[in-house]
Amino acid sequence: MESSFRQAKWNEPIIFELGKKGRRGYIVPKLEEDIKKIVGNIEELIPKEILREKPPKLPELSEVEVVRHFIRLSQMNYSIDLGLYPLGSCTMKYNPKINEFLANHKGLNWIHPYQDEDTVQGILAILYWLGKWLAEITGTKEVCLHPAAGAHGELLGTLLMRAYHKKNGELKERKEIIVPDSAHGTNPASAAMAGFEVVVVPSDQNGCVNIEALKNAVSEKTAGLMLTNPNTLGIFERNIEEIARIIHEVGGLLYYDGANLNAILGKARPGDMGFDIVHINIHKTFGTPHGGGGPGAGPIGVREGLEPFLPVPRIAYDGKRYYLDYDKPESIGRIRGFFGNIAVLLKAYAYILSLGAEGLKEVAEISVLNANYIAKKLAEVEGFTLPYGMLQPRKHECVFSVKKLRNERNVEALHVAKRLLDFGLHAPTMYFPQIVEEALMIEPTESFEKEELDRFIKALKKISEESYENPEKVRNAPKNTAISRLDEVKASHPRTMALSWKMYLKKTASQ
Ligand SMILES: Cc1ncc(COP(=O)(O)O)c(C=O)c1O
Repeated sequence: MESSFRQAKWNEPIIFELGKKGRRGYIVPKLEEDIKKIVGNIEELIPKEILREKPPKLPELSEVEVVRHFIRLSQMNYSIDLGLYPLGSCTMKYNPKINEFLANHKGLNWIHPYQDEDTVQGILAILYWLGKWLAEITGTKEVCLHPAAGAHGELLGTLLMRAYHKKNGELKERKEIIVPDSAHGTNPASAAMAGFEVVVVPSDQNGCVNIEALKNAVSEKTAGLMLTNPNTLGIFERNIEEIARIIHEVGGLLYYDGANLNAILGKARPGDMGFDIVHINIHKTFGTPHGGGGPGAGPIGVREGLEPFLPVPRIAYDGKRYYLDYDKPESIGRIRGFFGNIAVLLKAYAYILSLGAEGLKEVAEISVLNANYIAKKLAEVEGFTLPYGMLQPRKHECVFSVKKLRNERNVEALHVAKRLLDFGLHAPTMYFPQIVEEALMIEPTESFEKEELDRFIKALKKISEESYENPEKVRNAPKNTAISRLDEVKASHPRTMALSWKMYLKKTASQ
């Protein structure tokens, strides 16, 4: 397999360098005299203090110039609509366009959170029922939709732990949150932000929580444990009931990082496993891509007894109308303005409604099947090893190590990932979880057919062969993309990074 992929390469200026003074994309017609008579002089309607002295410096282009500019840029990019996007721990699934249609619906995205409740019954109903469905899916009592991301949900979860231990008069003693060494970095960060000390427990030879180490780590200081199940190796923690017992016996709470919920949708529920607090990454499992950098939504579900602490307002229903309920004296308060990232939540609503209970189960089944297909096929490729073995099936993702390629051919995970781009594929997540050396973390999701998975496996097989025949070729990749190897340090260094046109002008003027 030689790659026949060639990405378009345009010498495309940035939009501020295009166009001409006075060029317009849309001409607003002058107000007719008789309309003026009704609305008055528009300029006079705008309060003087908010009028700009000078017009903003916007690019001046015709509509077709704008369209061509962005189409050319899109041709130098990769997207979920082009092919496999195997970023591990990101669940980059195809997002059905019907979800976007709902999120774009005028009746929903033109309303304002300050509108009277009676005029926004529709959106309140959607959010109310979405919360109910997510509670059913996770096996929890009540769900709060407010957090704007997974990490934000984690922060809320750890703040709920504080509120719970405070109510029991134990907050002073319960200072520690236990986190396994395979956890996502946001877990210890959230625990620390909520004022806890982080205690790390190692994994055992199966890639699961080391039970003996956990028993040694717990004490009357334990506020809780944060656990991802299936974990970041794609392995299901089969001792979850024992883990729950150990934590509950010392009075701690069990927190479920539900970022990997895709793997168990409709099959198993965190609430039934003994978890007390659960977060969900809507922008992974329910129809919004994660890798786009936001916005997201990280709702939190809690078991009975913890719901009094959830943020306000809660959306309630009295059988006739939906309303905002602020009367929750034990609530920790607000975690975010208004009611969450509504567009993302609307997409989740459409996604769940269009798939139904059976469809959600199928999501889990196919995503697990796809991950195991890749795990099995790739384990046969020279230089790729699957730590923790093939005996235990993977769930939604698999983590390979290319340590052998590094040791024998000086080809690292980064080089393999970059060379994949030359085949018109997106790279997997690299160097995570940190317990695997030279890690490539692959999550195919349910939305790619066997032919696409085979194309990916074939490309990696070819890269393995190239690593033995011509490692330089792999190390110097990519060559078929619009831009070859980036200077990653320069790209993210504050001295060279220019995040806006203004910043760019400043930086280039001072050079
Ligand atoms: C296991 C796990 N936990 C937490 C998060 C954090 O989610 P977010 O990026 O939405 O903050 C992620 C992100 O992918 C994750 O994979």
